[in-house]
Amino acid sequence: MKRTKIIQLLKSDAQMDNVLVKGWVRTRRNSKGFSFVEVNDGSCLKNIQIVANSSLNNYMNIARLSTGSAVIISGKLVESMGTGQRWEVLADRFEIVSLAPDSYPLQKKRHTDEFLRTIAHLRPRTNKYGAVFRIRSELSYAIHNFFRDRGFQYIHSPIITGSDCEGAGELFRVTTLALENLPKKNGITDYAQDFFGAEANLTVSGQLSAEMFALALGDVYTFGPTFRAENSHTSRHVAEFWMVEPEMAFCNLEGNMNLAEEIIKYLTTFILNKSIDDLELFANFVDKSLLSTLENIASSNFERIPYSLAVEILKKSSGKFVYDIEFGMDLQTEHERYLTEHHFKKPLIIFDYPKTIKPFYMRLNHDNKTVAAMDVLVPKIGEIIGGSQREERIEILEKRMDETKMSKDAYWWYIDSRRFGSVEHSGFGLGFERLLMLMTGISNIRDVIPFPRTPNSIEF
Ligand code: 4AD
Ligand code: MG
Repeated sequence: MKRTKIIQLLKSDAQMDNVLVKGWVRTRRNSKGFSFVEVNDGSCLKNIQIVANSSLNNYMNIARLSTGSAVIISGKLVESMGTGQRWEVLADRFEIVSLAPDSYPLQKKRHTDEFLRTIAHLRPRTNKYGAVFRIRSELSYAIHNFFRDRGFQYIHSPIITGSDCEGAGELFRVTTLALENLPKKNGITDYAQDFFGAEANLTVSGQLSAEMFALALGDVYTFGPTFRAENSHTSRHVAEFWMVEPEMAFCNLEGNMNLAEEIIKYLTTFILNKSIDDLELFANFVDKSLLSTLENIASSNFERIPYSLAVEILKKSSGKFVYDIEFGMDLQTEHERYLTEHHFKKPLIIFDYPKTIKPFYMRLNHDNKTVAAMDVLVPKIGEIIGGSQREERIEILEKRMDETKMSKDAYWWYIDSRRFGSVEHSGFGLGFERLLMLMTGISNIRDVIPFPRTPNSIEF
């Protein structure tokens, strides 16, 4: 007999004679002649109530079942006589697969996020983290759907690469050299003897690969893990995160902004429709304003302003900031959040940033001072998307590479793509964990990824 997921049972509109439930005990309550066991199988937030009659041959053990134990029940789905649930399962057979001892750390009380991080191997068994990771799964699916519906091809960009797309030097090195005995040539490490015969690192972005494929397949996207060795101890940065990176040929900055706005709205609407039970948990226990924030995002037109105007607004604002802001400086999270949360009260796209604070590949504007960059900022988080129109003019690209000290030799193939059929093209990177923070109201990025990788932490 096939196992039935609890989500299916709870949606049933008729009683069913033969159901098979496999899951873990959340709670048990004994009353005269019966034991009521709440079982969860991870398919949804809700449990199913199992009614175990004292006539069952192993009733003695059932009546002592502890939280966290694994169980298999076959029986009938019937209308519940109790209040609080429509359906319950009357057990014909109740197998205790493995009994969890009383030391099981997830007892009925609520635990702090900090504590649950120390038991990250068990935290998906709680209501809250079960919901986080179901939403993570739904959104992954929705992202592929979004692009597929629009004719984008899915590209697998390499994880190991020799390049540093962002030029920030925040690279995790990949090597097979013996670190305690590095081969030297003229006093410096000889990477010619390393596995790839050259320096290699984990990718910080799939963009450069995606550009090559956009110039062949038109509209493409990558969706995979990216890595940054930035030593920031913030609630918005992890060393390993997932990024969604569309890249479109024959597309300028405006088309890029349109796609960015469209995908955020699409994903927000999707999750409001698909995962409302899980979202309500976050609205009740994490962020009271979550549903109105999401509805506002789904229905508002995103504000679009140039960087220079953003700086002016911030300078005139009465907001007290820890960091000053002047033209030419990068916006800090506090500035970003002020603009989207307090000033515009909705998502905001800032474009045309100074070239001095942006990577080499962004297209230079006529003013020679700014580039066709864009960041999408959302309430509670700040930057969720970073992107740009790309520099398709070979001479300007080479000049920018010189200015930013990027090796033209190492990136010869990137430059080469501008030699043959170069066209205007654009793309962006959507941080998948930041998206999950937005959708759940969870304020620490460590709590939306299964096993977070942060400075000084590699457990699990
Ligand atoms: O703005 P970033 O650095 O842009 C790029 O990497 C471009 N190459 C993308 C492109 O144009 N194809 O990063 C993009 C997004 C950020 O807006 C943020 O949401 C997320 O990636 N991000 C991080 N998320 C978690 N932890 C980190 N350390 C992150 N760094 C960036
Ligand atoms: Mg950025």
